[in-house]
Amino acid sequence: MTLRDWLAGCALARVDALALLRELAGVDHATVLAHPQRVLDAAARARLDAAAARLRGGEPLAYVLGWREFHGLRFQVDPAVLVPRPETELLVDFVLQRFAGNDAPALLDLGTGSGAVALSLACALPRAQVWAVDASEAALRVARANARALLPPARAPLRLLRGDWFAALPDDAPRFDCIVANPPYVAAGDPHLPALRHEPRLALVGAEPSADGLTDLRRIVRDAPAHLRRGGWLALEHGHDQARAVRTLLAARGLRDVHTLKDLAGIARVGAARLDDGAISLNNTVRNGLGRTS
Ligand SMILES: C[S@@+](CC[C@H](N)C(=O)[O-])C[C@H]1O[C@@H](n2cnc3c(N)ncnc32)[C@H](O)[C@@H]1O
Repeated sequence: MTLRDWLAGCALARVDALALLRELAGVDHATVLAHPQRVLDAAARARLDAAAARLRGGEPLAYVLGWREFHGLRFQVDPAVLVPRPETELLVDFVLQRFAGNDAPALLDLGTGSGAVALSLACALPRAQVWAVDASEAALRVARANARALLPPARAPLRLLRGDWFAALPDDAPRFDCIVANPPYVAAGDPHLPALRHEPRLALVGAEPSADGLTDLRRIVRDAPAHLRRGGWLALEHGHDQARAVRTLLAARGLRDVHTLKDLAGIARVGAARLDDGAISLNNTVRNGLGRTS
């Protein structure tokens, strides 16, 4: 079978079909365009057909390939972890903007999954003390594999802990300069859930699914102040329609400088606030990912 015939018959979006050809048959886009009559050998064809069937069944491309790029790094992923999303890079950028000049900030990533946020921070801030928590042992196995692959051997290791949000932390954990989380926030009846059926339910709706999807966000906001340094930041990813609710939670918990960051698509995506340090408060409520008021 030729490349042209396989592309015509695979019944996939062209971008996915080209990704499979590149990753599983070593055929790049230029070759497809220049030599569409090239013949696929039987082994490559079998790999491509099996992968195409999985994609047609609704599996994310990242699970089929076994990896997803996030913040410029390649993360191993499997169905034990949420596929890292580009909009979550906003959490990493938020921390980098505030702590790039800080000598060795203490950072905590709650619900680390593949380790995408924690490891992006650990790689970008070599002296940061990075802690990460997840309730799922299967997810932590993936995060550990990513840590082995991505962290330079000389770097202080990531502290990866299993447990229920802050209850996972040992008594000697520091107070953190910044706590970030992309927790489960999908509402129990959300119409997108069937399309996300291949990803872990714990990552999407949490252990106690709720009609508003805010259960875990509420718990994290409630307990975060006890784990932040004075002036320390809390930044939480949330759903496109949860910005106001998250700002209300942050303000009601007594946090300062409550604001929402928009992702590159202009969607309100991260609620952020900090523990009082006695300094003058900002008044902005909504800013985009580059820090401008909008
Ligand atoms: C939306 S996923 C985020 C994964 C990763 N941080 C990312 O952005 O790609 C949420 C993660 O929170 C974890 N999780 C859910 N409930 C938890 C809990 N009560 N305590 C700790 N982790 C929890 C899930 O296992 C999942 O890995």
